[in-house]
Amino acid sequence: MEPRLALALDVEDPKEAYNILEQLRDEKIIIKIGYLLFIREGSNLVKKIKNMGFGLFLDLKLHDIPNTVYNGVRSAVDIGVDYLTLHTLGGKEMMEKAVDAKRGSDLKLLGVTILTSHNEDYLKYLGTKYSLGQFVLKLAKTAVDLGIDGIVSSPFEVRKLKEEIERDFISVTPGIRFSKTDDDQKRVATPEFAVKEGADILVIGRPVLKAKNKKELIKEIQKKIQDVKTKA
Ligand code: C5P
Repeated sequence: MEPRLALALDVEDPKEAYNILEQLRDEKIIIKIGYLLFIREGSNLVKKIKNMGFGLFLDLKLHDIPNTVYNGVRSAVDIGVDYLTLHTLGGKEMMEKAVDAKRGSDLKLLGVTILTSHNEDYLKYLGTKYSLGQFVLKLAKTAVDLGIDGIVSSPFEVRKLKEEIERDFISVTPGIRFSKTDDDQKRVATPEFAVKEGADILVIGRPVLKAKNKKELIKEIQKKIQDVKTKA
C-alpha cells in the first residue's frame, strides 16, 4: 500500500476542527479523531469528514468484554469508520469478536500494543516476565494472526515487526517530527525515516496543527513520502 498521512485532529473546539477540515479540503489524507473531539462532536464531525471525502480514523482504543467490543465495532462500521483502534491487551476473544464484527466491511482494525507512555514498570505491574520488546512483538503477532489489519507502533519498531510477523499488516506510526522538539513525544522520527522503515500510515498532529499554512505543509510531507517511495 502507498504510504498515507493521517492528521491527528487533536483540537478542543469543534469550530476550529471544521475550519481545519475546510483548509485541507481536496487533500488525500486520513483524519484521526479521538476522545477529545469524538465525545464532544461525534456524529456531526464524522458526517463532515466522510462527506468531504477524507478517510476516517477513529482512535478510541477499545478494550472491554468481547460482546461490548463487538457492538462498538459494528457501530463504527455503520457510521463509515475506515480505521478503528483497539487494545491488543484486551485478549484473543475480544479481538476475534472485533474481527467478526467488521467482516464484509472495509473497516480496518488497528491494534495498539503497549502504549509509549509505559515502560518496563508496567510489565512488572502486569506480572509478565517478557521484556518490553518481546511483549510488544507477542501482542502484535497474536493480533495479526487473529485478523487484526494493522499495528500501531513507533517508527523505530516497524522494521522488526515487519520482519518478524509473516502475515501482511498495515503499519501505523505516530511520533512523526521534522526535527527534535521539546514536546512530549520522546522517540520521534522524520516522515522519510518512517517510510523507509516500512510504515504505511504516518500519524502527525501538532506540527501540522501549529503550521500557518497547513495545506502547504501536508503537501510537503506527501512529497517527501513520494520521493522515498520513488527512490526505493
Ligand atoms: O501531535 P502528535 O503528532 O504528537 O500526535 C500524535 C497522535 O498519535 C496523537 O493523537 C496521539 O494520541 C497518537 N498516539 C501517539 N503515540 C502512540 C499512540 C497514539 O502519539 N503510541
